Amino acid sequence: MNNPNRTMLVTCAFPYANGDIHLGHLLEHIQADIWVRYLRMKGHSVVFICSDDTHGTAIMLKAKSMNMNPEKLISSMKDRHQDDLFKFSIIYDNYSSTHQKENKNLCNKIYYLLKKKKFIIEKNISQLYDISCDMFLSDRFVKGTCPKCKASSQYGDNCDSCGAVYNAIELLNPISEISHTTPCIRLSKHLFFKLSYFSPFLKNWIVSGSLQLPVSNQLKEWLSLGLRSWNISRDYPYFGFKIPGYIDKFFYVWMDASIGYMSCFKELCDIKKEINFNDFWSIDSKYELYHFIGKDITYFHGLFWPAILEACGYRKPTKIFAHGYVTFQGLKLSKSKGFMISGRKWLSCFDSDSLRYYFSSKLSNNIEDLEMNLYDYANKINSDIVNNIVNLASRSASFLKKYFFNTLSNVLVNSSLYQQFTREAILIEDLFEERKFSRIIQKIRFLSDLANKYISQKKPWILIKNHLFKDKVHNICSFGIHLFRVLMIFLKPIMPVLAEKTELFLNKPLLWSEIDQPLLSHKINNFSILYHRIERSKVDYFLKKYK
Ligand code: 2FM
Ligand code: ZN
Repeated sequence: MNNPNRTMLVTCAFPYANGDIHLGHLLEHIQADIWVRYLRMKGHSVVFICSDDTHGTAIMLKAKSMNMNPEKLISSMKDRHQDDLFKFSIIYDNYSSTHQKENKNLCNKIYYLLKKKKFIIEKNISQLYDISCDMFLSDRFVKGTCPKCKASSQYGDNCDSCGAVYNAIELLNPISEISHTTPCIRLSKHLFFKLSYFSPFLKNWIVSGSLQLPVSNQLKEWLSLGLRSWNISRDYPYFGFKIPGYIDKFFYVWMDASIGYMSCFKELCDIKKEINFNDFWSIDSKYELYHFIGKDITYFHGLFWPAILEACGYRKPTKIFAHGYVTFQGLKLSKSKGFMISGRKWLSCFDSDSLRYYFSSKLSNNIEDLEMNLYDYANKINSDIVNNIVNLASRSASFLKKYFFNTLSNVLVNSSLYQQFTREAILIEDLFEERKFSRIIQKIRFLSDLANKYISQKKPWILIKNHLFKDKVHNICSFGIHLFRVLMIFLKPIMPVLAEKTELFLNKPLLWSEIDQPLLSHKINNFSILYHRIERSKVDYFLKKYK
């Protein structure tokens, strides 16, 4: 994909408005942000958007438990999320909310269209009902014994223990998670989207190259079992958008969340007149659309979402990029089990660039889980960034300041080594494009070793003692800075804070297009510490406090 002028829309999955941004979210938002930064460095036009996912029972109950109205909760959460993401250098062109008016309008519009095309049907269904709180119980708010393997404490949709998928009313001894009473069964009318009508379309779409192989295989399996109609409605009490024409029926949160991708973009179009909604979403759009998601939500993005788009005559995603979960020191992070490390906790001890680097060193374009080990993390940052890359700059800069007025020499002393570095740019471009970030880090490490070996072999600290070698020292140390600059151009999408400090030091922006133009006779600024070591004691403290 080396097309010079691409226009793309990139999204991350919308974080729910009932909890803080945590390491699991950050893996995805960082992965996408790196990709976007790289593509922009290459000159492509990228619109990067996200929203808070604000509806549903969980958010309604959370607001209730806080004695707050849900609108207030979601508004303060949105600010908090945006702030947290920003502190990890994740910057969206628009960060919206699925509760915004544009989303309501678009949901209604899409709903009317689906209805007109006869893709919506009404059915009466039996559901568990909590009498003491006067509400139907969604799958996650009821627990009971698995009807198949008899494991206790299983949710209403599937069994953790044997994997069986069932209907909540099939659970044995169901107990409401809200009131801890036994629910009864009640009938209620619901609205269903005829997903099965789109089976032939989906069969083709999931093998069209838009999905990673394991995702496409999993979806194939689900498709082969036959698709059931999708219930897009929920009963009162529910926090969401009311379905027009019904009393006390609301759109299911996943319906308006998916449509949120479009409305969030539409909101941006209204602010930035130069981008046009139809150019991106019409069936014959020439632009690209990418969704970054976790592997747990491939069902929604790989089946429901393309089916809804197809039904309404919109374009489909160019690609959906799923990633695995983050595990921390061997433990699974889980919101429901209460073990979560928030971005805020992380920043109370460590910095954002180091997390971005560590994730990158372990990330590829597959759906494998990513194991975080804080000692491994500290070692990597100390050895790769502090001892290698930054050290390359600091050891060269000290001579340049002391003897050469911070001015680089007018000679590129080893052009073949320089070219060895810049030649890697072609491969690194492909690795960025394919999201094989760990391979980029490997390459950068290899090159930074080479660069440091070069300086060590030339021994400028010995040469400087003989004034006949002064020019030589100037060329060697300037060369150290040239190599450092190439490495930092490669690292810029991954470590934007370090890149910014580097630009100040080099007195020059780090541009991909200028990679093969070394800064000859260029004046740099005084070197000041670019990165601090991560002390083991800090890791010990963090683990003691949060694990
Ligand atoms: O799984 C989740 O966290 C959802 N809030 C993601 C929604 S993505 C999109 F559909 F909005
Ligand atoms: Zn079971």
